[in-house]
Amino acid sequence: MDRWMPRLAIVLCALDALGRARAASMDPCDQANERGVVSGERVVVGVGYWAGGDVARWGDAHPCGDRATLGAIGVNGVGVVGTTTFVVNSGEMTALRGTRADEDGLYAANASATAMTVVAYTATKRSTPRVVRLETSDPASEGKSGIVSALTLLVTFDEGAVKYLRWHDAGCGNCGGTADARCLPVGEGHHACAASKAGCDGTCSGSACDVALNTTDALRCQLTVTMATSGTDANKEVFVAGGQLERLSKYASSGAYASAAASASAAVTGVTGFIGR
Ligand SMILES: *[C@@H]1O[C@H](CO)[C@@H](O)[C@H](O)[C@H]1NC(C)=O
Ligand SMILES: *[C@@H]1O[C@H](CO)[C@@H](O)[C@H](O)[C@H]1NC(C)=O
Repeated sequence: MDRWMPRLAIVLCALDALGRARAASMDPCDQANERGVVSGERVVVGVGYWAGGDVARWGDAHPCGDRATLGAIGVNGVGVVGTTTFVVNSGEMTALRGTRADEDGLYAANASATAMTVVAYTATKRSTPRVVRLETSDPASEGKSGIVSALTLLVTFDEGAVKYLRWHDAGCGNCGGTADARCLPVGEGHHACAASKAGCDGTCSGSACDVALNTTDALRCQLTVTMATSGTDANKEVFVAGGQLERLSKYASSGAYASAAASASAAVTGVTGFIGR
């Protein structure tokens, strides 16, 4: 079986409400999806994960252009690179989130992994990698460990064509600042708040329990990528990035940003299963 075939392809998106879906594929690797984007219409974005792949290891590998190579990377025949596809409204700030089960499962596929990294991509463009899981034994860990709860992605367009995907450093204002044990180094000097593994697994006790597992706070045990758009669309209209980033910083300072409250404001959209497994 081709490991890169999605085992599940659910597409939930703002399109239904818009009622003007273009007849195109939901594949982020389809180059037709990275141009001609109109504000308020859909854009397809992929997020690729690598269990045990550190930031450097990604090199220039692209989940589309190098899909055969990346798909073949595995441990005991089980792939450790997985991707998730999101179909979102380009005119709105959106929260991209897979499932904790998929994220945990992929990470577990590489038993010796001390880190997991992600890249965001469209057919030919790719962000730099970011760390989303870390063990204290990882050389880049600064002695910290945990599961990164949230990252912020800015997708910039030039007349409707994807120009680049870049991470915005949301910092650790939410979790006690850079020195805090829950503030992980995620790459390029950026930091992000994380939940502890023990807190997420319920194996903690007392004050070490940093996650309320019986509430939506449990969403901090997996990655949510908050995505905003900037630049110009196919009609040369400017995406309202300024306002979106203002909202992002509001989430960051209110604490809602990394938690479920953010998902109430920013619609959670499409998910497809991991395809590295
Ligand atoms: C699994 O993780 C280890 C430790 O990070 C890494 O050295 C190894 O290359 C990873 N395996 C694969 C197949 O990526
Ligand atoms: C969640 O669990 C804690 C500790 O057991 C409890 O105090 C709290 O009321 C629970 N919250 C909900 C929403 O059930």
